[in-house]
Amino acid sequence: MEQRRWDRDTLPEGEEKVQAVREMFDAIAPRYDLVNRIMTFRLDVRWRRKAVRLLALPPGSTIIDLAAGTGDLCVDLRRAGHLPIAFDLSYGMLAADRSGSPRVQSDILRLPLRAGAVDGATCGFALRNLVDLPAFFAELARVVRPGGRIALLDVGVPHNRLWRWGNNIYFGKVVPRIGAWLSDGAAYRYLPRSVAYLPPRDELVDMLRAAGFADAEHRQLSGGLTQLMVATRD
Ligand SMILES: C[S@@+](CC[C@H](N)C(=O)[O-])C[C@H]1O[C@@H](n2cnc3c(N)ncnc32)[C@H](O)[C@@H]1O
Repeated sequence: MEQRRWDRDTLPEGEEKVQAVREMFDAIAPRYDLVNRIMTFRLDVRWRRKAVRLLALPPGSTIIDLAAGTGDLCVDLRRAGHLPIAFDLSYGMLAADRSGSPRVQSDILRLPLRAGAVDGATCGFALRNLVDLPAFFAELARVVRPGGRIALLDVGVPHNRLWRWGNNIYFGKVVPRIGAWLSDGAAYRYLPRSVAYLPPRDELVDMLRAAGFADAEHRQLSGGLTQLMVATRD
C-alpha cells in the first residue's frame, strides 16, 4: 500500500503539502472533535473563546473563520452575536461542521472575497498547515476592512524547560496513541512534527506588521502550549 503523504520522514512542501493536508483532514474529520477534546483536556474550548473575546468586535460583525474545520470557532462567534462564514480546504471537515454557518470550500491563500469585505477574521490551529504565511497575511490584509480585527491561534512551544519536556512526551508519544486508537495514528504523529513549519513568534509578529497590522501582538496561552496573535487592520 502506498505510504500516506503525511506519514513520511520528511515533511511535505508546496503543492504536495496542500494535498497531504487536505487528504489528512478528510480522513480524520469524523473523529476530529472527539480527539481534540480528549488530547487537550478541553483547553481548546477555552483558547477559542479567548480568541473571540480578544477579537473585540461589536455584535453583528461579519467574520470569516479561516480553516474553520468542523466550525468550533464559528459556534463561539455566533454565541458572541457575530455573523461567521466558514472557509476550509477539506470537504470532509466542512461536512462535519456543527455550527450551521455558511460554508465555503476554498484555499484560504486565495479567498473569493472583494477587498475590505469583512469586519474580522479568525483562524484556529492552521497556520502551520499553510505553504506561504506572508501570502496568507497579505490576503488577510486585503479582505479585512481598515479598523477590522483578526485573531489567529496555533499550537506553541512552552518556554519553561520542564513544560517543554512534558509537552514533547505528551504530543510525541501519548497523542499519537490516542489518535491511533480513535482515529488515524499517522495524522496525530504528524501534528507535533508540523510545529516545525511555524516561524518563531517575533518573526510571526513582524510578518503581520509588514502585511498591514501595525499593532499586532502575541500572547502565550496555558504556559505557551498555544499562541494567539491579535491585530487591527491599519
Ligand atoms: C487543525 S484543523 C483546525 C480546525 C479549526 N479551525 C479548529 O480550531 O478546530 C486545521 C484545518 O485547516 C484546514 N486547512 C489547512 N490548510 C488550508 C488551506 N490552505 N486553506 C483552507 N483550509 C486549510 C484543514 O482542512 C483543517 O480543517
